[in-house]
Amino acid sequence: MSQLHLIDHPMIQHKLTIMRKKETGSKDFRILLREISLLMGYEITRDLPLDDVEIETPICKMTAKKVSGRKLAIVPILRAGLGMVEGLQTLVPVAKVGHIGLYRNEETHNPVVYYCKLPEDISQRLVIVTDPMLATGGSSCDALSMLKERGCNNIRLMCLVAAPEGIARVQREHPDVDIYVASVDECLNKDAYIVPGLGDAGDRIFGTK
Ligand code: PRP
Ligand code: URA
Repeated sequence: MSQLHLIDHPMIQHKLTIMRKKETGSKDFRILLREISLLMGYEITRDLPLDDVEIETPICKMTAKKVSGRKLAIVPILRAGLGMVEGLQTLVPVAKVGHIGLYRNEETHNPVVYYCKLPEDISQRLVIVTDPMLATGGSSCDALSMLKERGCNNIRLMCLVAAPEGIARVQREHPDVDIYVASVDECLNKDAYIVPGLGDAGDRIFGTK
């Protein structure tokens, strides 16, 4: 069974509260999402293995630590997942970035794939999939399946706000994928929006409607 990690550091909760407010505009929404992503990334990478490396400081030689060979890839689910990339890249500048384009059909709420471009060696990387919203779980589950079809077997899912329904679906369909969230909200409404949520993340990031 995949583990659910609730990253509820006070600074993350505070920033998320501002994001949720309906009067918060796109510019502040984007900045806050980037900041929270960096903070969440710190926790997501907490257990990365380290190797010893011999270096020389201006004073003497020493055995120091470096993150071991395992390389990282960040894979945002378009569009809203893009808003979480820069924060993670600040933390891991050498990470490669793939893109999976999905949108939800407004009537069925089922995801529709329109784009997929991934690093060639994606199967050898630790993949962090980003999407601020985990609602029904349809988009995340499809993105995870697409990655697995390409050989990925080491994937983590990073979301900002999740509904219990979406968490349950990912855990059922992808029991090997750990989920990292800043909040587990109450439920979904009849339009499959998260309650209380923060509205349409893509629209709020990019100023569309
Ligand atoms: C939103 C969100 C997720 C998806 C979550 O994307 O960014 O990808 O919905 O819902 P689900 O868990 O029920 O699949 P949307 O389809 O609105 O596309 P966008 O990011 O391009 O706005
Ligand atoms: N997608 C969003 O952007 N928000 C929701 O609440 C659900 C799906």
